[in-house]
Parts: sequence; structure tokens; C-alpha cells
Amino acid sequence: MRNAPPETTPFFPRDREWHPPAFTPGYKTSVLRSPQRALISLEGTKSEVTGPVFGHNILGEFDNDLIVNYAKPGEMAIGERILVYGRVLDERGVGIPGALVEFWQANAGGRYRHKKETYLAPLDPNFGGCGRTITDENGGYVFKTIKPGPYPWPNGVNDWRPAHIHFSVFGHGFAQRLITQMYFEGDPMIWICPIVKTIPDENAIKGLIAALDMNNTIPHDMRAYKFDIILRGRRSTFFENRKEGN
Ligand SMILES: [Fe+2]
Repeated sequence: MRNAPPETTPFFPRDREWHPPAFTPGYKTSVLRSPQRALISLEGTKSEVTGPVFGHNILGEFDNDLIVNYAKPGEMAIGERILVYGRVLDERGVGIPGALVEFWQANAGGRYRHKKETYLAPLDPNFGGCGRTITDENGGYVFKTIKPGPYPWPNGVNDWRPAHIHFSVFGHGFAQRLITQMYFEGDPMIWICPIVKTIPDENAIKGLIAALDMNNTIPHDMRAYKFDIILRGRRSTFFENRKEGN
């Protein structure tokens, strides 16, 4: 468990109405994936709630730099260079230190490095597409990457995912994992995406859109996007999964 001060403000229970229903036919695979029977709760096992402990010793030097972490020596990934940063916050706005944040994404052409990927856009030999970091004492995280491209996917006749980065945030146990996606300010594809449209609350969608932040750019190098991840409460980030073990 984190050595956090005791809760001093009322706990805001998760608003289940805020989540999309599991069955959303506009997102075709939800038809087969959605549960057919009532859900059951399972108690987390001791190993799920007590481990693992993530330390900086698990991180490689370039884990938070997707531009170079898969590239050949002296080479770099192709694409718009960006810096993504923000904080992992609890419902009081207090930063959460020591949280493992993982991210994965398509390359600049919208293609994933995955054996089941079928999109015709080319692989970038210098781009792997995943990385990780651990939040600092203020809950802050930062990584460098290239802006992912949008990609088509088999759903309707012409559905495209907006440019996005997948995020996973671990707490202090395997049973504390939350997963979400980050989108980019100003992208018109966000509002016509069948997956985004399963989210009923417009503010929940807006909470997934990283703001272009020209104050934190690296001049002549990369623009910055700011994405805070709020774990609980009224301003909580929308997560794709429930807390596991709950
Ligand atoms: Fe994706």
C-alpha cells in the first residue's frame, strides 16, 4: 500500500452511469465480447494485491523515449516529434508517486508492430511503439515519442481510429491496473470514432484529449501534449477496464 495521508475529503464512488454499456452494437466486437450473464466479484489474492513492487531498477535508459528505444544506433523513428507529459492524480488532485505508467501506440503511418496487424501502412524499422516510466514524487511522468497516425479498422465500411496512445497505469499490485487511451487536441476523427462514441458523457471524452501545450515544447525539436490521469472521483479519467480484483 502507498504511504498516503488518510482520506480527508469524502470519497467519490465511481459513477457506473458514466461508463459505456458493455453492449454497444456500433462497436461491433462488443456484441460478442459483452457479458451474457451477471458479473461476479472475485476477491483479490494476496499476491495480486501485494506485488509486484516497481522500482526504477526495472527501467531501461530509453524506456521513456520511443523515438530511439527501438532504433538502430544513431537512427530515429520517423514522424512528428512530440513530448507527452502529465501527472497521475487521486481524486483530491494529489500526485501519486511510484506508479508504473506504460504506453503503446501505432507508428506515424498508423501501423502497429504486431503480428496480427493487417493495415497496409509500412512498418518503421526504427519504431517499436511501446515504453514505460514511473511517476516521480509529484506523480509526474514524461516521455518522448512520435505522433501516431490514425488507422482504419474493420467495423463499419469506413471506420478509423483517431490518433491515440494507449496507457496502462499500475498501482502497487497486479490487481490495481487501469487502462485508457489518450487523444490529441483538435483531431476531428475523435468525434466520429465508434469506440469513442460508446462513451456517453462528453466530458469523459474531453478528459481523454491531451492539450497542445506550447509552453512546454522543446524549441526547434518537439511540441508538448499534456495529459493528466485522474484515478478516481468526479473528474476521473475514463478507463476502459474496471479495477481488477474489485
Ligand atoms: Fe490502438
